[in-house]
Amino acid sequence: MKKLIVANWKMNPDSAQAAKQLFADMGKLKASKSEIVICPPFPYLHLAKPKNYALGAQDIFWESKGAFTGEVAAPMLQSLGVQYVIIGHSERRKWVGETDEVVNRKVKAALAAGLKVILCVGEDAEVRDKGMTAAKRFVDKELREGLADLKNPSLIVAYEPIWAIGSGRADNPTDTVEMAEFIRSRVSGARVLYGGSVNSGNAKDFLQHPEIDGALVGGASLRAYEFKGIITTVE
Ligand code: PGA
Repeated sequence: MKKLIVANWKMNPDSAQAAKQLFADMGKLKASKSEIVICPPFPYLHLAKPKNYALGAQDIFWESKGAFTGEVAAPMLQSLGVQYVIIGHSERRKWVGETDEVVNRKVKAALAAGLKVILCVGEDAEVRDKGMTAAKRFVDKELREGLADLKNPSLIVAYEPIWAIGSGRADNPTDTVEMAEFIRSRVSGARVLYGGSVNSGNAKDFLQHPEIDGALVGGASLRAYEFKGIITTVE
């Protein structure tokens, strides 16, 4: 199966013009052994010209329309060609207080609408310092609560240890493989991605393992040459 490389632009770049340029750069990437998904901020979704990449959103609301000021619904995203949605990113859990219950509502709504869900899970440094067993217990709770009431959901899980995100300190690939297998033992058939300081220099360390189905890339996805380096690793 192809590796799934997801670009999470987060709240970047700072203008529509810069986003257009970034989309144009991404449009030049050639990939045959990987699928590329680009997740820009909502206001830039309509600027994308997805050809060699698919389009994803960074969040979603659980209702499909109505009086929910500031929220964005699945049908709106789909009308712009969005196929994927990131749910439960640790930055949303941290900065807007998203709980596992909220994550669960969003996952249900997105799956019901036919979107491909990228559910983010991962422990903080304090937990990881206690070891892999503690980290697995943490991830297990996020999976159980985030996927409550769902029977055999078909989805993508991004394992993103919080301490590895944006820190320049990626996980140890051996531990990532162990966690990927654990996640698959909990969510059978899930495609498991790794995220956290992935760049062109370390991508191979993760992507060479069959247990790791791809990467969720933040910072390095904003620099076309870096992102290209990650894709080249797979190709
Ligand atoms: P990073 O972010 O690649 O900048 O560490 C990854 C993510 O948060 O998805």
